[in-house]
Amino acid sequence: MEYPERLESVTESLRLDGRVAVVTGGSRGIGKATALGLAEVGANVVVVGRNLDSLEVVVQEIRSMGREALAVPAHVGKTEHLSGVVDHITKEMGRIDVLVNNAGTNPAMSSMLDLEERLWDSTMNLNLKGLVFLSQAVARVLKEGGGGSIINVTSADGFRHEVDGGTYAISKAGVIMATKVMAQEWARYGIRVNAVAPGHIHTRLGDSVFAVRPEYEDQLLARVPLGRIGEPRELVGTMVYLASGASSYTTGATFVVDGGWLLT
Ligand SMILES: NC(=O)c1ccc[n+]([C@@H]2O[C@H](COP(=O)([O-])OP(=O)(O)OC[C@H]3O[C@@H](n4cnc5c(N)ncnc54)[C@H](OP(=O)(O)O)[C@@H]3O)[C@@H](O)[C@H]2O)c1
Repeated sequence: MEYPERLESVTESLRLDGRVAVVTGGSRGIGKATALGLAEVGANVVVVGRNLDSLEVVVQEIRSMGREALAVPAHVGKTEHLSGVVDHITKEMGRIDVLVNNAGTNPAMSSMLDLEERLWDSTMNLNLKGLVFLSQAVARVLKEGGGGSIINVTSADGFRHEVDGGTYAISKAGVIMATKVMAQEWARYGIRVNAVAPGHIHTRLGDSVFAVRPEYEDQLLARVPLGRIGEPRELVGTMVYLASGASSYTTGATFVVDGGWLLT
């Protein structure tokens, strides 16, 4: 995206009116909050996930805001389907301007000594491989359209792993590097690629670790300078900024939103 010739106000630069944003994992948690936030600033939004019924609930909410919305059921870890998914979205919505690669999994905790290949594959296939090949398919569309913005949801764990969370951390560290590689390569097409690295956020995925290890919540909070676990809506300002022209000179960056956890 070129810097606009006419200097916009900050508020105008954050608008996405008429743009089409695709959010994977848009049915709940951080993805749902992001989908609603992008709609609030004017975008028409496509939500992708495995469960159609839960996607449809978000679609209805977005339509009630006066935007267009589309639910696309797909498993982002099954890369053979991804170019078909992008073709379907382009046909239905006419264009794509923004991709938020948010779908992710942290299926089980395991030490590296006990790690099973099945766990490694399911984590990497969704968190890293699916993200890369969906980005590739969308980048081909963005290139034809003159540019756009891709936002990859990584994790603060991509910078510092947690005990028995090694596979997840490795996948998220890969997302940070994939962001840099794609940003450098696709800048010439007007495509910006950035990442957001949340710390602990209250969602089904985020809270699942406390179900397995209840004592971990207090240990974690002792290391979060802001003293609490975050809420999905606290990621939305960063997402809107990175999706919009307000961030027109930002690419290859990873924005940490972790209450200060990485400081301790
Ligand atoms: N919550 C945290 O503390 C935290 C911290 C750092 C990073 N993150 C990252 O933030 C992202 C969102 O996580 P969340 O906490 O919001 O999780 P969540 O509430 O569990 O939501 C996950 C979303 O991803 C979808 N999804 C899961 N597997 C999928 C697949 N194979 N294909 C397509 N969609 C799939 C889910 O829908 P279906 O199940 O219907 O497919 C759901 O919409 C993830 O990348 C996660 O790693 C989260």
